[in-house]
Order: sequence, then structure tokens, then C-alpha cells
Amino acid sequence: MSDRRRLLPLLGAKRHGSRDSMTCLYRCGNACDHPVPNTSDNPYLGDMVNAEVSRRGVVRAGAVGALVLGVGGSLAGAGVASAAPAGGTAPALPEVADFSARQRTGNGALTFRAVPPNKLDTFVVPNGYDHAVVIRWGDEVVPGAPELDVRHQTGASQSKQFGYNNDFVGVLPLDRRGRRALLVVNHEYTNEDLMFPGFTSQDALTVEQVRAAMAAHGLSVVEIERVGDTGRWQPVARGARPYNRRITALATKFDVTGPAAGSAWLRTAADPSGRTVVGTLNNCAGGITPWGTVLSGEENFNQYFVGGDAVSEELRPKLARYGIDTAKRYPSGSRKWERADERFDLARHPNEANRHGWIVEVDPFDPDGRPRKHTALGRFKHEGANVIVAKDGHVVAYMGDDERFDYLYKFVSDKKYLKGNSWHARRHNLTLLESGTLYVAKLEYTSTDEVDGSGKLPTDGAFDGRGRWIKLVSGNRSYVDGMTAADVLTFTRLAGDKVGATKMDRPEDVEPSLATGKVYVALTNNSNRGVGSNPKADEANPRTANKHGHVLELVEDRGDNTAETFAWSLPIVCGDPTDPSTYFAGYDKTKVSPISCPDNVAFDSVGNLWISTDGNALGSNDGLFATPVEGPERGHLKQFLTVPLGAEACGPFITTDDRSVFVAVQHPGEISGASIENPASNWPDGDFAKPGVVVTWRLDGGHIGA
Ligand code: FEO
Ligand code: CA
Ligand code: CA
Repeated sequence: MSDRRRLLPLLGAKRHGSRDSMTCLYRCGNACDHPVPNTSDNPYLGDMVNAEVSRRGVVRAGAVGALVLGVGGSLAGAGVASAAPAGGTAPALPEVADFSARQRTGNGALTFRAVPPNKLDTFVVPNGYDHAVVIRWGDEVVPGAPELDVRHQTGASQSKQFGYNNDFVGVLPLDRRGRRALLVVNHEYTNEDLMFPGFTSQDALTVEQVRAAMAAHGLSVVEIERVGDTGRWQPVARGARPYNRRITALATKFDVTGPAAGSAWLRTAADPSGRTVVGTLNNCAGGITPWGTVLSGEENFNQYFVGGDAVSEELRPKLARYGIDTAKRYPSGSRKWERADERFDLARHPNEANRHGWIVEVDPFDPDGRPRKHTALGRFKHEGANVIVAKDGHVVAYMGDDERFDYLYKFVSDKKYLKGNSWHARRHNLTLLESGTLYVAKLEYTSTDEVDGSGKLPTDGAFDGRGRWIKLVSGNRSYVDGMTAADVLTFTRLAGDKVGATKMDRPEDVEPSLATGKVYVALTNNSNRGVGSNPKADEANPRTANKHGHVLELVEDRGDNTAETFAWSLPIVCGDPTDPSTYFAGYDKTKVSPISCPDNVAFDSVGNLWISTDGNALGSNDGLFATPVEGPERGHLKQFLTVPLGAEACGPFITTDDRSVFVAVQHPGEISGASIENPASNWPDGDFAKPGVVVTWRLDGGHIGA
């Protein structure tokens, strides 16, 4: 192995930042090589509403007290939407931790010693902490799954095993004592170079291998248990494990909900109703709802389709706006899934692509139930969705469209969240994302004349301004000229173009702090900002050829998450702190860690912001960082961990007791030239690289970070 390791510097072709060209190919179908899909002439209009801003209002989100999901036996005849798992005696139904409200806010200084930047092929945590792999690609999910056998993987075997390239991580408690939980994980994409021995090309794969790759996409639900009284968790390895489940791109059926369900855009030969879709694709980030379900974003779905050259003139621009190549039969980076399933050939089934790119809701406590695709939340390259219960009880989902020069969105439900622990409340809350109002963000600036693309802070001391949420559709009513509600929801990018939404630098994870109601947006980077004829730097995206990204803080007016106006600022402008274009909320830059390409965000129980990175352009491995966002320590950002060579840090998830941090190690060893026989990373088992979920805990059992 050591010989192989010495080969590493010879591998790898860098593309953007330190992202390897192999990641560009498999992750997003070489999106950066293609023209920016947003070619709209979409100017900013300075007619902002001057509502008064309150920066002080602390939102108490939604309900208090645990949502307890009753006892299974008494519910069997109750006709509830979610039933106890079938098969023999139903286990007691789980209780769900209260994800609708956290009471504490804190200025909790983070006490861990920052991990330095490094290029080690290992997982690095601070002194006084330990970590362990919870589950990795190929491990058993469905009881009785065969062991990973890379020479003989099939659609059937992979459909029972943990999928590839884990991204979103959520942990939902199964008992009050904190001993059992459900781990829910997304599997965004596959890298066939690193999965199949002897790989030469997608065309050379057997159809069964293509099916295995399709089954390695989707989600996994895995019952886990605490190890002793530590912060470590491991899969339950015995018993029926009735909640364990694989959801795949290969076979899982989804119900489509909302105003676009059944519309002409969603109908296909296989599904003339336009209401049932097989599979979910490229599931990136996500969120846990207050009612204990998981939301998952279908992101770079475009790259799975061929035949875009053969679609109708009417459909062509609609597909192109989503990055589908309408000039070539076989675009570069194509997965060639049409070899296994003809619906991925748009020449034969032109509407199939419209059935992907949605927010998916999975109820992990209903293992036999169909997950749903919610059209009311719009269709774009969904990074994920995160929900907060507003003061008046409506639920609000915040969402990003991860593409250069695309938009920031929010959804406000028609119905209100029902508190309490009844099955009636749960059944009701499961419908909240089926109807509501979809908005897109339009930002205004305070220092326009001073923004020159260098990142130099304006004289008023902040990149900041106000903004408003522009209504696109409410229920079945469209607010966009020339587009029906189904048009707006299915081709939401085009609706955003028409209303002049603000073009952002790749909006990834967007998450409200449940401690304050403030919303944090990770803007990863944008190599094209201000380059050539592309839009110039603006106050919300203030650097030309933005390599390192930034974080935007959005404060809704009156502390009301349903408000149509807000204030925003950039608390963190990423990079090496010695770079004058960086900013850490005014904190002493000699004390902060370098950070590049923020991607996923999360909060601990006192509202500290945790940020994971994708494609660190400073030469270090990716990692996880944390910073307080309130009080005197705001901006004191420190690196908490780094992931192995070639990998990206995804997830992250901090358990509600603050004792465990879960991170998904995605695409370890994804470095050009690597293969399963000649891996660029040996993590985690010393042989070939396998994506996996890791838990980190404090050796003395204390709270993470604080
Ligand atoms: Fe899958 Fe936007 O990262
Ligand atoms: Ca300003
Ligand atoms: Ca991501």
C-alpha cells in the first residue's frame, strides 16, 4: 500500500479550486465546462419595500415539547397515514425528538483546538475527540444483504446494501433515553471508475452493473444504537430492524403531490397519470422536518438523460435551462442509464426529465410507505430544503438552486403546523408541503458603487442590504406572466428569470437557525462571476471569479419567517484569513481557520453554525468548521475535522444532545487516474476507498465543541 500511496502526487488533474476533474465528471456532468444555463437578461430593480427591519427579534419556532408518536398496537385500526411496520408483532412506534423548536440561544465559545489544514489520507479530529466509521458503501442495510463483492455487484445486491457517495445525514431518535435512532442518508451519485474493477467506460459496463449503479443512488434508512454511554453510534446488527430500508433510483416508486402532479409536463408512456415516478436521482443535501420526516434535494438530474437533441421545439429551451444538452444525443459525462432503462432516453420519453429535480419527502417511520415528490416546492437543481415553523404556525422551507447564477427560494405552507403527539397531528403535518406559496429572492444593496469585485469591504462596514421574496405561485394561481402554476412549478428557473430574481454564486445548503430564526445560505463559489460577459460582482456576491465562496445571513422582517421582506448581510467571506478579501464578521483574523467552498450548514443546540466544505481551493483536504453567530465570538471560525484525500465533507449533523457529530465522507480517493485496483485513498479499511458515514465524539463524554 505504501507504494501506492507514493503515487498519489502523480494522480489528479485539478479543475476548479482543488476539485478533481473526476469529481467534475461524475458529480455534475462537467457542469463547469458547459455554458451557464442562466442566460436570462435579468436586471435588478431598485424598488424595494422599505419595511422596518428588526434585527433583534428572536423567533420561537413552532411547538414545544416532544412529538411522541404513540404506541403501535393501539393504532392498527386507526386508519393512520403512517402505520407501524408490517410483519409479525408491530414494534412500538418511535418517538421523535422535537425538531420544531430549540429553546436555548448561546454565545457558546467553541473550546476545541482547531485542526490544521492537511493533505492526509485519514480522518482528523481535535485532541480529546475520537471518531469511528458508522457505515460504509456496501454494508448491510436490509437484513440479509450480501457482502460487498465489487466483482459481482448487481441491482438486487446493491438494493440491500448501503449506497455510494453519502451526502445528507439525519439522525432521528427512536427512544427517549437516546439509545436508539434512525440514521437517514442520501446517496448522491456513483463513480464507476472507483466501484467496478477493470472499468474502462460507461459503455463497457454490463447492464447489470448499470443497474447496480442505479441502486447505489437514493437513500438509506438504518437503525443505529449508542455504544455504551459514549457519543459513538453503530448500526444495530441483530433482530428484524423493521425500519431499515433502501430507496433507490432503480425501483422505488414515488407519489407526486401538489399543483403540478398529473400535469401534461409530467405524463409519460409508463405513467400516463403523471403522478407516480420511479426512482430519485442525485440526492444532495436535505433536512429533517418538525414532524420527523426527511427532505432530500434532487440536484444534478440533467446528466442522467440522453436524447435531448430529439425533443420538441417547445421543450428544448425548458430542458436547456436545466443544463440538459439539447444539441447532442450523448452529452459528455453521460451515465448511459438508457442502456438499462429506456426512460432515460429523452428521444423516446421526453417528459421523464421533468419528473426529477424535486424535493422528496421520506417518512423513515413508515418503511412500507411511498416517499413523495412535492411539486409545490418547485423544480430546480435542488440542493436541499430546511423547514422552520413560523410564529403563526405556517411552515417555511428554505431552498437553494446549486448552479452558478441561480436563485434562492422559499416556500410557505397554506396549512399550519399542528402541535402535539397525536396521530391526527402527524397525519395533518405530513400534508403541509403539498400546498402553499413559492417565492424567489431578490436582493438590494447599500454600497453598490463601492463593490469592485476585489472583496474590499464597503465604507459602511458591511456587504449588506435588504431584499424581498417575490411570489411565483400560490396554490394553483400563478403570479408569472404567461406561465400556469404547473409551468412555474415544473420550470421554476424560467419563472425566476422572468421576475428578475438575484443571480447568486451557487446557493447550496440554506438553513434557518432554530435558535434565532435567522437563515444561513452557503454560496460555494462561482468561477464565472464577473468573467467575460457574465454578471459582474455585486454586494451579495462581491468577488470576481469567486474561488472560495461566502455565507449569507438572512433576517426576515419582524422575525417572521413568512415575511415577504428581509435584511441580509455576509458574515463570512471565505478564503485564507491572510487574504484581504476575506471577512469573518469582524473577528480577529489571526485566530480563525482558513475555509474555502462552504457547502452544507448545520446548527448545534445553542445555535453555533457548522459549515462543511466541498472542493477546498486552498490546497487542504475538505473539512467541517464551526463558528458562533451570536455574541462576542461571532466569526471565530475554527476547523473541527478534516476528511481523507479526495473526499468532500457532507452531512453534517449534530445530535440534539450535542454529544455526537455525524459527517458523510463523500467520494474519498476521487482523484483522476485512480481506480479500484490503484486507489488514491485507502480510507476507511486500508484497501480501496469507500464513501462512509463517520461519527465524532468527545472522549470525556462532554458536549461537542462547547
Ligand atoms: Fe451536491 Fe450542490 O452539491
Ligand atoms: Ca453595505
Ligand atoms: Ca452539496
